[in-house]
Amino acid sequence: MIRSRIIATGSYVPPKVLTNFDLEKMVDTSDEWITSRSGIRERRIVEKDVATSDLGTQAALRALEMAELSPEDLDFIITGTNSPDMFFPCTGCFIQAKIGATKAAAFDVSAGCTSFIHALSLADKFIKENPSHKVMVLGAEIMSKVTDWADRATCVLFGDGAGAVILVGEEGERGILSTHLHSDGSLWELLYMPGGGSANPSSRETVDKRLHYIKMAGNPLFKVAVRALADVSQEALKYNGLTSEDIDVMIPHQANTRIIEAAAKIINFPMEKVYLNIEKYGNTSSATIPIAMDEMQRGGKLKAGDLMLLCSFGTGVTWGSAVIRW
Ligand code: UT7
Repeated sequence: MIRSRIIATGSYVPPKVLTNFDLEKMVDTSDEWITSRSGIRERRIVEKDVATSDLGTQAALRALEMAELSPEDLDFIITGTNSPDMFFPCTGCFIQAKIGATKAAAFDVSAGCTSFIHALSLADKFIKENPSHKVMVLGAEIMSKVTDWADRATCVLFGDGAGAVILVGEEGERGILSTHLHSDGSLWELLYMPGGGSANPSSRETVDKRLHYIKMAGNPLFKVAVRALADVSQEALKYNGLTSEDIDVMIPHQANTRIIEAAAKIINFPMEKVYLNIEKYGNTSSATIPIAMDEMQRGGKLKAGDLMLLCSFGTGVTWGSAVIRW
């Protein structure tokens, strides 16, 4: 059977570190509050002149180097992002041009923090359709430019970064075993950015009202997120005839350590098998999972045949999972 296998990973975070102690000087917060409520200690923030595609480009080049492929070998570039360079063209087209992937079809996926899993699911379908396709999937975000730095309820949570993977079709047991995607648009008000779109086109008024920044109902979203991560993980295990004991590593979307711990508890999944790096990067939205995957791969923490469970949730509300035999 042909499966879509991840043959390479890459990631990039900007060098500038913003710690909780730095934030104490910007808004009424404390390192103690942020760490105990979210698990975040610091995050990376871009300089003014950096765009999302710049982070994506660095992650893409690192993945290509690991894969020993040239950019012209890629057939698709699918970029998950909620903080694109521009409204249009898509961020994937900027990445395509910057790396010189002349043959690739590039487009973006917007499904909140779940975008990477949605993009992975599409890549799997392209490869199943034509096993010779080589597909790059990215999660790339500059959340710091849509964050309201005067709103302590959100500005402490997010960070910037990008991750990329390259998938090819391969005969055998390794690769993507399943993906499951969900959404409930009736919950959109839990997390959104109202300004700049057709509902509230940019104007002096939208800027004055700070509509170009993230609006979030953190507490209700927390509860939805716990349920979504638990449900989608259970669904993925059941579909593959697996139990949590069979899984070697879970890489969840890194939005809040407490959300992850609560979801793991519901499905009786041991935290020792959950990969966490939220402490260093905060919530980089669709980039959290591919950054974590790259860290694990380059850190020698993954071996061929490992069973990996990815699960995520995000604005929309969306949620999804993937099970991968590494
Ligand atoms: O990728 C998806 C993106 N978003 C998420 O996943 C977020 C999901 N939600 C969460 O992670 C949590 O709800 C938060 C970390 C955002 C907040 O934690 P919480 O335990 O739900 O706190 P809360 O919103 O109920 O706020 C508790 C208190 C409030 O004060 P009062 O009303 O009890 O006096 C807040 O005003 O904490 C206050 N607060 C803060 N205090 C210090 C809110 N933000 C801060 C802050 N520093 N940064």
